[in-house]
Amino acid sequence: MENYELSTDFARLDLQAIHAYLTRSYWSPGIPLEIVERAARNSLCFGVYTQGAQVGFARVVTDCATFAYLCDVYVLEAHRGRGLSKWMMREAMAHPALAGARRVMLATRDAHGLYRQSGFTECVGNTNLMEIVRPEIYRRV
Ligand SMILES: CC(C)(COP(=O)(O)OP(=O)(O)OC[C@H]1O[C@@H](n2cnc3c(N)ncnc32)[C@H](O)[C@@H]1OP(=O)(O)O)[C@@H](O)C(=O)NCCC(=O)NCCS
Repeated sequence: MENYELSTDFARLDLQAIHAYLTRSYWSPGIPLEIVERAARNSLCFGVYTQGAQVGFARVVTDCATFAYLCDVYVLEAHRGRGLSKWMMREAMAHPALAGARRVMLATRDAHGLYRQSGFTECVGNTNLMEIVRPEIYRRV
């Protein structure tokens, strides 16, 4: 997209910027920087950049063969509404790690409409899915 670059290069990630967003996100409030860094290092990450600054991010936890879990998707407020997250989703879904996966999963509170555009459908009522949810894990003292 004009004026923006998208990259999967780990070396380009601005981990401080990613942490600054994720620690105020609704899904990982309080997450420590070192956890963000370890997670990114062990994932396939997509960064969106403009004028040398990182303004968007998406992370894929995957075996690069059969399964992928998409998470930590955000675009900074000043850059929203320009199609950047749809671009990240298109690029992510076209990446071999996801394009060849048997299952790709994600969790979202309210952005279903974004992911539907990339082919995701709701798992509502699928009792084969199990999860452990600990949304306050970083809040423990
Ligand atoms: C969700 C988010 C990544 C969208 O980024 P964006 O670059 O502004 O989105 P785009 O311009 O690519 O467009 C998003 C599309 O999804 C749709 N959409 C559906 N639910 C949405 C939601 N909750 N927020 C934003 N867009 C949503 C939009 O209408 C738009 O579709 P359209 O162009 O057909 O109208 C961004 O609003 C954000 O960072 N939100 C806070 C973090 C978040 O909720 N991340 C998702 C966690 S699952």
